[in-house]
Amino acid sequence: MKLGVPKETWSGEKRVAATPETVTKLRKLGFDVYVQAGAGDGARLLDDMYVGAGATIVDDAESVWTGTDMVIKVRPPSDDEIATMPEGQRIISLLFPGQNKELVDKLAERKATIIALDSIPRISRAQKMDVLSSMANIAGYRAIIEASHHFGSFFGGQITAAGRTRPAQVLVIGAGVAGLSSVAAARGLGAEVRAFDTRSSAGEQVRSLGARFLEVEIEEDGETAAGYSKVMSPAFIEAEMALFKEQCEEVDIIVTTALIPGKKAPLLITHEMLDVMKPGSVVVDLAAEAGGNCEATIADKTVDYNGVTVIGYTDLTSRLATHASQFFGSNICHLLDDMGGGEEFNIDHDDDAVRGALVLEDGELMWPPPPPKVTAVAKPSATPPVEVPADPPMPKQPAVSASVSRLAVGGVGAALLAALGLHAPTELLQHFTVFVLAVFVGWQVVWSVTPALHTPLMAVTNAISGIIIVGGILQAGTGDIGAAAILGGLAILVASVNVFGGFFVTQRMLKMFRK
Ligand code: NAI
Repeated sequence: MKLGVPKETWSGEKRVAATPETVTKLRKLGFDVYVQAGAGDGARLLDDMYVGAGATIVDDAESVWTGTDMVIKVRPPSDDEIATMPEGQRIISLLFPGQNKELVDKLAERKATIIALDSIPRISRAQKMDVLSSMANIAGYRAIIEASHHFGSFFGGQITAAGRTRPAQVLVIGAGVAGLSSVAAARGLGAEVRAFDTRSSAGEQVRSLGARFLEVEIEEDGETAAGYSKVMSPAFIEAEMALFKEQCEEVDIIVTTALIPGKKAPLLITHEMLDVMKPGSVVVDLAAEAGGNCEATIADKTVDYNGVTVIGYTDLTSRLATHASQFFGSNICHLLDDMGGGEEFNIDHDDDAVRGALVLEDGELMWPPPPPKVTAVAKPSATPPVEVPADPPMPKQPAVSASVSRLAVGGVGAALLAALGLHAPTELLQHFTVFVLAVFVGWQVVWSVTPALHTPLMAVTNAISGIIIVGGILQAGTGDIGAAAILGGLAILVASVNVFGGFFVTQRMLKMFRK
């Protein structure tokens, strides 16, 4: 299958949908890759590097669009690209179908098949294809780099002969993928960081990165059962804004990343709050493209608001184009692998990841998709259980026959035990009772132990096996080759397998932790 990689035409876009490294992977997946000349220039990936990886360089965009079976790209196709492409072309790119209805209609007219990378559902299996996460991670990091560029002081506290400086105080609003990446980057530079999120589950992640998690007194969790963030109540927004106003007096840098999928970003930092920030402070608004979290934000601009720099860049990932292209390209490789590679490429409607991202198929609208069969986070439902209509009554016969057969087995067992009790010697009866109890207790202990406790359990069973070996040696060493000696020998063998098997497994586990 022929795969085309055009040069991005979106103003300022430096990323490219495939890098030489991902071209190698795509070729292994069975694709012939055609890259437009200069497609990787913005990400410092030169044509020769693509040729070295096995791609064919084509001179112009038209050849990429018309001479291939599928086009992979970063930004949604432009009007010119739609006009150039042949009818029925397949495209994998960002699209945001919820916000770009008109574009979807234009592509439908061209009978296109479109996979929107932004619509891949956030299920565990699809994490490796999730461009939103890989790009958010980069944007969060870059936000701190941009902030440090405009902030006239150190991030980490300094102690020098000339004096001391305190560490920069950073507030991160929204501790999702981008927010956590900002927290980690700011901590890495030595700043003191605090973060806030409406999802209480973010608290642990923030703390694990060495930052402080801020909370408001209102109890309202901002996470839906599917793991996405939701629009908060006005009371909650008011409470968090009061918290931010206090914080604005203390902090030097604010990174805002608060977003609700498919909605306008909530306004959280007002002019009034910027007024109390120290001159020289910096606000980086990662929600600028969705309307901004800060009142002074202007998308794609750096604004000076009374001495506070407000950055509204929407191309933060493009500012780290080489790695962004690498991650973006890898996400596409994983998706194409999932779709059968070049030899067996297919659009499987039963595949949640593919179905979720399928917007058009041969011009037919397939979006929005049905909800995925698995959700990102399995949450206990807050709603009362729905009453399920009773199943039609089962035929009585099988239930009766099952209980009859269980009764029969029980009866035979009881009769055998009674016969044993009447005729067996007292010594055998005592041993048999101990044996039955040991089997019962052993069964209960082993089957009720959680997997996390299997290692200590193994130590205990090794000790028990040791006792069995001693007992076996006593029986086998009597000199008579009778039933007891044979059973003793057998017990030694089985218990030894348990002991040495245990040592072997432990050895392998220890190796996992050795560097
Ligand atoms: P996002 O970019 O849509 O939103 C950013 C953050 O803003 C979120 O953490 C959200 O809770 C927060 N936020 C929204 N309204 C806010 C408000 N009023 N005040 C403060 N914060 C507010 O979210 P992102 O970063 O893409 O992911 C969010 C969640 O999705 C996380 O739990 C993440 O772990 C999960 N996720 C799951 C994936 C998977 O299972 N494949 C992949 C990526 C993320």
